Amino acid sequence: LGWRLVLLDSTDSTNAEVLRRLAADESAPLLLLAERQSGGRGRRGRTWVSPFAENLYYSLGLRIEAADCPLEGLSLTVGLAVLAALREQGCASAGLKWPNDLLVAGRKIAGVLIELAGDPGGACQVVIGIGVNANMLPGRVEIDQPWTSLRQERGELVDRTALALSLGRSLQHYLNVHRARGFAALRDEWEAAHLWQGREVQLSAGPQQIQGIVLGVDRQGALRLNVAGEERAFSGGELSLRLR
Ligand code: BTN
Repeated sequence: LGWRLVLLDSTDSTNAEVLRRLAADESAPLLLLAERQSGGRGRRGRTWVSPFAENLYYSLGLRIEAADCPLEGLSLTVGLAVLAALREQGCASAGLKWPNDLLVAGRKIAGVLIELAGDPGGACQVVIGIGVNANMLPGRVEIDQPWTSLRQERGELVDRTALALSLGRSLQHYLNVHRARGFAALRDEWEAAHLWQGREVQLSAGPQQIQGIVLGVDRQGALRLNVAGEERAFSGGELSLRLR
């Protein structure tokens, strides 16, 4: 893939570790994987449970000129890349929930957290963090939302090296498409994989609750909802969606 690779036994968060290294001028692209995280980060300030040697804790750090790489929709593009890798690894029934949750039968199997540093208008560092529940089994960990793992879905132990390779190839492909043509080129594919198309949902934007029907996403990856007969678009990392 041509990415520099760093493997660690343990770190607080692979995302935080990559951001520190890029801030210290290490070269990019930098792919960093750890066997465990003591402070794995999830979206919206949650923690990501990261037991030793069970799962994939994967962060790819890039340096970009924001002008060259449309950041809009990037997290949805990454969701598609993870989905393709999960399917390649034998999990055919996985799908997406906006903006980038990966679910199997309503249970979370993987998640994406993208973090930025630097000057968002100019040169910046982007870290694409991906957590995949690979070999984790119920009973060993406490997680406050329904979850599953590739091992549970496939019924056999997962080779995490094969999974990481498949994820790398898939990311490279989808990031290339995104860089060349933007999220707009992937929008139909994304909607086809969206588990909640046409469903009635409730969107939480801080204290505000919005109810609507999912129409799809726009060319920037914003969620399009029919709210009381009117189409509205929503974007932003702090939003969360649930079924009504
Ligand atoms: C989510 O809340 O769905 C996003 C979870 C992202 C977890 C991954 S694990 C590797 C990387 N390092 C982190 O601290 N978080 C991401």
